[in-house]
Amino acid sequence: VQYRAPRGTRDILPAEQSYWRHVEATARELAHLFGYAQIDTPIFEQRALFDRSVGQGTDIVEKETYTFQDRGGEELTLRPEGTAPICRAYLEHGMSSLPQPVRLYYFCPNFRYERPQAGRYRHFNQCGVEAIGDSNPAVDAEVIELSWRLVEELGLSGQQLLVNSIGDGECRPRYLERLRSHYTHHLGKVCTDCHHRFERNVLRMLDCKRSDFGCQELIAEAPRSADHLCTACAGHWSKLLYYLDALDLPYTVEPRLVRGLDYYTRTAFEIQPPGKGAQSTVLGGGRYDGLIQELGGQPTPGIGFGAGMERLVLNVKRRGEAAPENDQTQVVVIGLGEVAYREAHRLASHLRREGIQAVLAPAGRSMRGQMRHATALKARYSLILGEEEVQKETVTVKNMARSEQMEIPAKSAASVVRAG
Ligand code: HAM
Repeated sequence: VQYRAPRGTRDILPAEQSYWRHVEATARELAHLFGYAQIDTPIFEQRALFDRSVGQGTDIVEKETYTFQDRGGEELTLRPEGTAPICRAYLEHGMSSLPQPVRLYYFCPNFRYERPQAGRYRHFNQCGVEAIGDSNPAVDAEVIELSWRLVEELGLSGQQLLVNSIGDGECRPRYLERLRSHYTHHLGKVCTDCHHRFERNVLRMLDCKRSDFGCQELIAEAPRSADHLCTACAGHWSKLLYYLDALDLPYTVEPRLVRGLDYYTRTAFEIQPPGKGAQSTVLGGGRYDGLIQELGGQPTPGIGFGAGMERLVLNVKRRGEAAPENDQTQVVVIGLGEVAYREAHRLASHLRREGIQAVLAPAGRSMRGQMRHATALKARYSLILGEEEVQKETVTVKNMARSEQMEIPAKSAASVVRAG
């Protein structure tokens, strides 16, 4: 083949679609149950939006964005994540005048120039939610519950719900200092990426997955952010755990959990299969109380999560159950000869108006050829029109499973098919 889908992208073929629709419908239903309303934002935004929010020192902004100049000279970036655009929309549309928190959900394609591997793509899809305008830890617990329910409803077993608090602008600088001094005398033992992280984003050192250097031992001994919270953050954290307990959520406190985007404050959480690397995390999220102010708005808290659709679908498929829908065709319409084929076209059109799925067999083929097509499409019924049927205004209905057929008035075709 001459052309292939670009590296890190993939086609979602019809055979896989039913899994996607199932995951999508489950996410949408849950979002509605929790009182969230759908929002869509553009696929590209002004470049500065992501530089300001996701953060200059992050992998995403440093080396993964698809940024280009349009023909008018404007710097645009393909959306690498959904949260910043929604906060932009919140401000642009004055949503602070709505009852707070504003509860929103979304499905969106995202773009990151990453090294492709299993479950990691350059063009991937997320579903997610954001609750904006309420700093109470009850909202954190609600969002975390919603994320857990999604995994539960999809029947994914063995997943772990990990939570942590990474503090805020008040306490984090002090914590980062402690982290830096923890590492200062051991930089000879860490990998080259961690060297870079030490300079740019020391928190991310806790997220290193490499075991061929001393990174893991140093992570194990590192000071924990949740032990270095200011009074307000500590209060928020203990209240959150209090609510999570009330909801009976099976969470684990994971002191090493840090997130890859700069806007997070306080609560951070992820759902991961046990013992796997970052590329298998099905969803992640957290609180971003400084983000909207960073984008030029009044100080406005928010929390949400994003789930990788590809990863959810992969896990649903791994459960090994058949696709939730089947690939049968309800009716294939067969017309023998020029005139009957024209009538067959009219009949198919009529059936569709009656809400019955109808596919026309290919023109110009013999009865056997058209019937073979009906079998290949797993038709439940084939409706056959020959010259005789056209004359009598009838149609021959064949129940494909039972191999039975009968001639009925053409007018009653829809009701006969519907009656099964
Ligand atoms: P994130 O952790 O960058 O967070 O992405 C969330 C989820 O998207 C990941 O857990 C993963 O399932 C999926 N994902 C990320 N990158 C890829 C990729 N290259 N290929 C396939 N799947 C991927 C965010 O994006 C935040 N906006 C989440 C959030 C919402 N925080 C608060 N509100």
